[in-house]
Amino acid sequence: MGAKNAVRRIGVLTGGGDCPGLNAVIRAVVKTGLLQGGVEACGILDGYEGLVNNKMTGLDYDDVSGILTLGGTILGTSNRANPFRYIEPGGDRDDARDVSDVCLENFRKAGLDVLFCIGGDGTLSIAHQLAQNGIPVVGVPKTIDNDICGTDVTFGFDSALVVVTEAIDRLHTTAMAHHRVMVVETMGRYSGWLALVGGVAGGGDVIVIPEIPYRMESVCQVVRERSRLGKRFSIVVVSEGVQLPEGDYVVRERVKESHEQIRLGGIGVWFASQIQERTGIESRAVVLGHVQRGGSPTPCDRVLATRLGWAAFVEAARGGSDVMVGVRGQDIVPVPLEEVADRQRRVEADCDFVQAARAVGTSFGDE
Ligand code: F6P
Repeated sequence: MGAKNAVRRIGVLTGGGDCPGLNAVIRAVVKTGLLQGGVEACGILDGYEGLVNNKMTGLDYDDVSGILTLGGTILGTSNRANPFRYIEPGGDRDDARDVSDVCLENFRKAGLDVLFCIGGDGTLSIAHQLAQNGIPVVGVPKTIDNDICGTDVTFGFDSALVVVTEAIDRLHTTAMAHHRVMVVETMGRYSGWLALVGGVAGGGDVIVIPEIPYRMESVCQVVRERSRLGKRFSIVVVSEGVQLPEGDYVVRERVKESHEQIRLGGIGVWFASQIQERTGIESRAVVLGHVQRGGSPTPCDRVLATRLGWAAFVEAARGGSDVMVGVRGQDIVPVPLEEVADRQRRVEADCDFVQAARAVGTSFGDE
């Protein structure tokens, strides 16, 4: 590969919430390693849970053949196990222990030279800590939320956008038929990328994202004005990370073992009830939820995942560690995990996505 290759045995894990394209990355890392690097590969099952509890399996060519188009992850994943604050299943927060030394021991016992951690900010933050503890790590950024620092885009985002866009398209026809307001709630945690880009693609009339403070009265004014102009329906796209007027988030559940404990969900239902109450126009909410994470990756995500998986192996073969491979313009570049860990890439309120949307008459509920 034209690179220093001290890598003979690689470990791969997928951590955090799944998204389309994980298998495409696994395939790319492992195939590149087997075919170009002559390495052996080992899959770590269920994210960091497998590293803590030594759940590993060999990965041969046949294991990663035919998985490019498959959603989910053949390795399983977990967004609960954090080796630095590990809680046994069913345990309490007070029982949290640092078991990172067990991870190092299992890594060494398996004869691994490098660990590929494919995941979102939680997984990559833990990867950074593991690297500092002596495990050579290369990260690959995944998430439908598109909120990872150090990369212009994450794989999984494009596939989720297709779901959001198709949902909005479908909701348009039923909204028109019933002269209703349809509120569509997207995932995305504290970043509004999915709602913003999906809302633009689907032609939402109002897009509400965490980064742009809204006023409910302004949202309702758009709905009333459309009605006055003879448009007897409206589509309002709301990101799950949008806060209630008092500043609270709508929390679906708390997962105590998780790096990020809060699970958002439900703000769209509140929006629909408020809009109906204030405008008198019948309103319904659709919370898209995990549908956004399912299914086969889009062609864009398959290609991005393949490029990232290949680049991750090349980076490891060069001796790189404590880095992630990220997208910068047309290139894939190594980014120190220090610049990625415990941060989120949020939408800038004056970015061109927002400006273009405003230019074509989309409201952000802030006028
Ligand atoms: O980070 C991906 C994501 O789907 C978020 O958009 C969402 O808030 C969260 O994961 C849901 O997590 P869980 O699968 O634990 O409900």
